[in-house]
Amino acid sequence: MAGQAPAGSQSTAGDPPSPPRAYAAPANLKVLPKDTTGQQVHDLMEEWERSLGIDCNSCHAEDLDNLGPDGRPRLNFADDSKPMKAVARTMYTMTEEINRSYLAKIDSSGAPVTCGTCHRGHLGPEPFVTPPEKPAQPQTPPPDAERPQPQ
Ligand code: HEC
Ligand code: HEC
Repeated sequence: MAGQAPAGSQSTAGDPPSPPRAYAAPANLKVLPKDTTGQQVHDLMEEWERSLGIDCNSCHAEDLDNLGPDGRPRLNFADDSKPMKAVARTMYTMTEEINRSYLAKIDSSGAPVTCGTCHRGHLGPEPFVTPPEKPAQPQTPPPDAERPQPQ
C-alpha cells in the first residue's frame, strides 16, 4: 500500500524509463521559421518564460472546453487572443532584426541580443541607473588615524 511505503522509497526501479515527451508540431507560427519543430518551440518558450519572469499563461489563453486532469483548463497555444502574444511576436521580430541587420554588420563578440539582454528576468526591463562617477582622487583626506606618518 502506498501509505505504508517508507519516506523516500518512491522507487522507479523496474519501471521503464519514460519516453521523451513528444511536442505536437506547431500549427500557428507567424514569426518563427515554419519548420521549427515542436521540441524547438517548447525549448524557446521555456527560455522566454524565464527571460521575462512570467508564465506560459501570460501569453497563451485558456481553452475552457479542454480541462486537464486537475480540472483546470489547458492552454490553447495556437490561439492568438492574448494581447501579450502579439507583443511577443513584435519583440521577436525586433530582436531578429537587431541581430541580422545591425549586430551582424559590426565586429562584435558574436553574442546575439536575446530577450534576456534587455528583460533580465523581468516583464518590464528595469531602467538603467547610471552609477555615480568615481572620483580620480579622494576628495577628502583620509582621517588622521589612517594617514601615513611622515618618516
Ligand atoms: C512572452 C510571451 C510568451 C510566453 C511567456 C510563452 N509563449 Fe508560447 N508562443 C508565444 C508566441 C508569440 C508564439 C507564436 C510564435 C509565432 O507566431 O511564430 C507562441 C507559440 C507557442 C506554441 C506553438 C503553438 C502553435 O501551434 O503554433 C506553443 C506550443 C507554445 N507557444 C507553448 C508555450 C509554453 C509551453 C510556454 C510556457 C513554458 C509558452 N509558450 C510561453 C508567446 C509566448
Ligand atoms: C532591445 C531590448 C529588448 C529586447 C531584445 C526584447 N525586449 Fe521586450 N520589451 C523591451 C521594452 C523596452 C519593453 C517595454 C517595457 C515597458 O513598457 O515598460 C518591452 C516589452 C515587452 C513585452 C510587453 C510587456 C508588458 O508589460 O506588457 C513583452 C511580452 C516582451 N517585451 C517580450 C519580449 C520577448 C519575448 C523578447 C525576445 C524575443 C523581447 N521582449 C526582447 C525591450 C526589449
